[in-house]
Amino acid sequence: MNATMTSEETKHQPVMLDQVLSIISPQHGGTFIDCTFGGGGYSSAILKFPNTKVFAIDRDETVKKYAGNLIEKFPKRFNFFQEKFSNLGKIFNSKSKLNPKAIIFDLGLSSFQLSDHERGFSFNSNNPKSFLSMKMGINKYSAYDVVNNLDKKDLTNIIKILGDEKDGKHIANKIVESRTEKKIKTPKDLVDIIAKAKKRYNKYKKNPATKTFQAIRVYVNKELTELIYGLIEATKLLSNDGILLVVSFHSLEDRIVKYFFNFYSNLKGNPSRYLPSENNNTALFKVLSKKSKTPEISEIKKNIRSRSAKLRYAIRNEDLFFYPEELKKKFIKYLSLENSKI
Ligand SMILES: C[S@@+](CC[C@H](N)C(=O)[O-])C[C@H]1O[C@@H](n2cnc3c(N)ncnc32)[C@H](O)[C@@H]1O
Repeated sequence: MNATMTSEETKHQPVMLDQVLSIISPQHGGTFIDCTFGGGGYSSAILKFPNTKVFAIDRDETVKKYAGNLIEKFPKRFNFFQEKFSNLGKIFNSKSKLNPKAIIFDLGLSSFQLSDHERGFSFNSNNPKSFLSMKMGINKYSAYDVVNNLDKKDLTNIIKILGDEKDGKHIANKIVESRTEKKIKTPKDLVDIIAKAKKRYNKYKKNPATKTFQAIRVYVNKELTELIYGLIEATKLLSNDGILLVVSFHSLEDRIVKYFFNFYSNLKGNPSRYLPSENNNTALFKVLSKKSKTPEISEIKKNIRSRSAKLRYAIRNEDLFFYPEELKKKFIKYLSLENSKI
């Protein structure tokens, strides 16, 4: 992607598509829920097979144009909802009617979002139209609101924990110092502040703004809360043999997904020992491989964005459901951080 590209010119390449298709096997037909429609890469690939149906969700209004193309092409087999996936249960309230063969999450940003400079997701953006928004869609506030208003302590914790950034305190201090002089409006304003806070800015292998941008984006979109509730709702919707598949892009997401599958499949270290004894041996999922799958080198060469992808999936084992209180307890730090008020 280069700095002058518009979102229309950038194409989103679906990540690990071949692996996803081989796990969910749409060639045998069935109903699928694509929780992160994006450019529709997964949905289109599934719909190529006859006897498939796709219900797609995305919180981003701008993807409606891509969804519209599929609705025209497959009016009886494709449906789109502009919603957050934590609301899966509100969109589909009857499990028995739908019986999805698989529910898929491909987390994070699409190339369209990243390259749309007006949305301010990219720290490479020097475009004068750029605004520090970082909203994926259906948000309460923007990154601009966060960096200009959030108190120093919360800002520090968000950058430290959601960005895994050891210099979180310095960066938060500099943000607070700068905003008293002038509002922080653009990605470049923020990059300049981070550069002042990080010593030897140019010596880093990765762009030193990467972690702070991730932290603020995750907070603005409540991405970890969304993931936790999205997984829980998907579990409720799946019947026996239904597949839950997640492609994640950073370690916080992968930690949640891994723990979620371990918890519900009674794998070693399962904290369900705290649950009432009747639930103790009830595995709601079967996990076929404890190890995550990663993209082939050939894919990474073609699409650098895929390099950090991790795919995990599990197969629904029981029709009953019990609430994973332990999961919420385990990740309470993330849930309460994302709930910090501006
Ligand atoms: C990586 S892209 C998906 C790309 C898609 N698989 C494809 O092949 O074109 C992720 C998409 O998920 C959407 N998204 C992220 N979090 C969401 C949430 N909580 N609810 C609904 N959509 C979400 C984003 O707006 C983005 O369009």
